[in-house]
Amino acid sequence: MESIAVSGEIKMTAVDQGTITDVAVEQMSATPDPRLKQIMEALVRHLHAFAREVDLTPEEWLEGITFLTAVGQTCTPTRQEFILLSDTLGLSSLVTSLHDQRTQSSGTTSSLLGPFYRQDSPDKKLGESIVNDPEVPEIALYGRVTDTAGRGIANATVEIWQTDDKGVYDLQKDGAAIDARARFRTDSEGRYWLRTVTPLGYLIPMDGPVGDMIRAQKRHGYRPGHIHFLISAPGYREVVTALYMGYDDHIDSDTVFGVRAPLVVRIDKNNPHNPVPELDGSIHFDFQLSPVSSAGDSGRVGADPSQILKK
Ligand code: BEZ
Ligand code: FE
Repeated sequence: MESIAVSGEIKMTAVDQGTITDVAVEQMSATPDPRLKQIMEALVRHLHAFAREVDLTPEEWLEGITFLTAVGQTCTPTRQEFILLSDTLGLSSLVTSLHDQRTQSSGTTSSLLGPFYRQDSPDKKLGESIVNDPEVPEIALYGRVTDTAGRGIANATVEIWQTDDKGVYDLQKDGAAIDARARFRTDSEGRYWLRTVTPLGYLIPMDGPVGDMIRAQKRHGYRPGHIHFLISAPGYREVVTALYMGYDDHIDSDTVFGVRAPLVVRIDKNNPHNPVPELDGSIHFDFQLSPVSSAGDSGRVGADPSQILKK
């Protein structure tokens, strides 16, 4: 980098609009962790390129800082506004896709964990309902958990959580009991089956700075109805995904870009293979797990907010 003489013996690097990016990157160049070095260098380069592209003014820069401050101040043990921001900018969905692309063999497509996952789901027996007091007719949800060759994985853990038929998670109801979430184990052939209700789509939390952003952009703020899954078994990559209800009006305009075509399902009526034959409707979906490729190979985009604050 070019040095300029300031006065007498003093020489310094010329820092100006044209050199500032290289100067900042150079100052970080001794970072010992190579991955941290790569990420921070790229972050600085892209941030600077962004500011140049939009010719960012000091007022706009300060407004951005004020917005990010409000995002941080909105975070609580049950709410993660930064993840919501990442979701609504499409970043979480992109990280999910990059994670899937990294695997050698193809398992079930991933989707977002979302902010309503909790580690304390109750264990239930196959065939039980995940809903405490269903107010609408239940449907059956069933399928298999297999490896990528189609061999059933016995005793795999299937965690499931969803909204009720009005589009509300148990966590959004003040003081309400755990509801519409459970943990199952597959049988000896990798099968799972359970009862639930059809979930309704819902507005993402709109009462914070991210909601203000969504309104400023004239976006609707809805997610289509979906059922979340976290599926794991020793020796396999954990799959974080969701099944999306094909009948939902917002199936093609998810505010957090989580919908993927292979994850869109329909409800079959009078399906002869329904393992809970007393129920009219059923959804069938088989999940495939790919072998684990490295330690801690989780595809979780998101987290239980109370666990983030503990760190
Ligand atoms: C959800 O699926 O629960 C969700 C995901 C991202 C943002 C808001 C909600
Ligand atoms: Fe959700």
